[in-house]
Amino acid sequence: MDSFAGKLAVVTGGGSGMGRELVRQLAAAGCSVAAGDWHPEAVAQAAASARAAAPPGVLVTSHACDVADEGQVMRFRDEAQQQHSARHVDLVFANAGIGGGASFVADSRAEWERTFAVDFWGVYYCARVFLPLLIDSGDGVLVNTSSVNGLWASLGPGAPSTAYSTAKFAVRGFTEALIEDLRRNAPDVRVALVLPGHVGTDIVVNTRRAHGMPAPGEVSGQKLADARTWLTKAGLVRADASDDDVRRRLTGLEDDFRDKAPLSAAQAAAIILDEVRAGAWRILVGEDAKMIDARVRAKPDAAYDYAELFSGLAPSPAPESATAG
Ligand SMILES: NC(=O)c1ccc[n+]([C@@H]2O[C@H](COP(=O)([O-])OP(=O)(O)OC[C@H]3O[C@@H](n4cnc5c(N)ncnc54)[C@H](O)[C@@H]3O)[C@@H](O)[C@H]2O)c1
Repeated sequence: MDSFAGKLAVVTGGGSGMGRELVRQLAAAGCSVAAGDWHPEAVAQAAASARAAAPPGVLVTSHACDVADEGQVMRFRDEAQQQHSARHVDLVFANAGIGGGASFVADSRAEWERTFAVDFWGVYYCARVFLPLLIDSGDGVLVNTSSVNGLWASLGPGAPSTAYSTAKFAVRGFTEALIEDLRRNAPDVRVALVLPGHVGTDIVVNTRRAHGMPAPGEVSGQKLADARTWLTKAGLVRADASDDDVRRRLTGLEDDFRDKAPLSAAQAAAIILDEVRAGAWRILVGEDAKMIDARVRAKPDAAYDYAELFSGLAPSPAPESATAG
């Protein structure tokens, strides 16, 4: 695929972060986009600003869609086809995702299963629902977003990542398994796997909202005590810090995740699009993702022996670590 111009792309999770940037950059490159998100206002705004900067003839539509609900993904497909007068779709970016379900032991089962449902079943339903339209394209690309946590199932010392990593490993397995399947059974479609490291987005804030958790400034009771324990262990607050200091530190972590990342959402989206255009199937986004990939491959037995895995590096290499809370 030399160019996105004149194509039609579907993007899930288009209301924020990398999805919003994919919508904007695809439209700027002359590609029409059907953008979905479970926050209709956010995706409508993203679509409007993408449309404003797009060349003439590019249509950008927005759609309310919870990817964890197959019926809503089917409705998204029907709306997209109708509004774009399209018989086929050229690109599908199954990008929507949330964190959460950090601990299988201590976190709620509902949070664990919701996280898995969005992050795995969301990708699966998009493939189920849109594959026939990608086949009809004659040159379709399915782009599934996993994570560096699809390669390494931890966020580092003291920070488990069970639901998210399980789902992201599943996305990686599903996507890699599709390579041979598509080659044999749908040779006009190829698949790409996106493995980002830490990218500066609002995923921590959006995850908290998705699970109905209180804002950091409102945390109290046991949640505050738990936060104090892990922040103290991580050396981020003193044991005798006031409750408000703990809350401020929690707020700072959400901001830092977005503002102090090695890559912005715009840079990450540009990498993804360049690699998709170049025909890559395995897209590591960021130096941290490349480093973890290389280390885990080089020393698989040391994957969870952090001192050994990251020997020779500065401490705390864990990407996405703020999502653990
Ligand atoms: N930011 C990172 O460091 C990072 C690293 C690795 C992987 N990822 C993955 O990249 C993808 C994009 O993340 P981001 O960082 O841009 O996050 P983000 O929160 O900025 O954007 C994700 C978007 O997905 C939407 N969304 C969430 N659940 C949804 C659902 N059920 N149905 C439809 N839309 C839904 C959100 O409303 C949001 O607009 C996710 O799959 C995430 O897991 C992110």
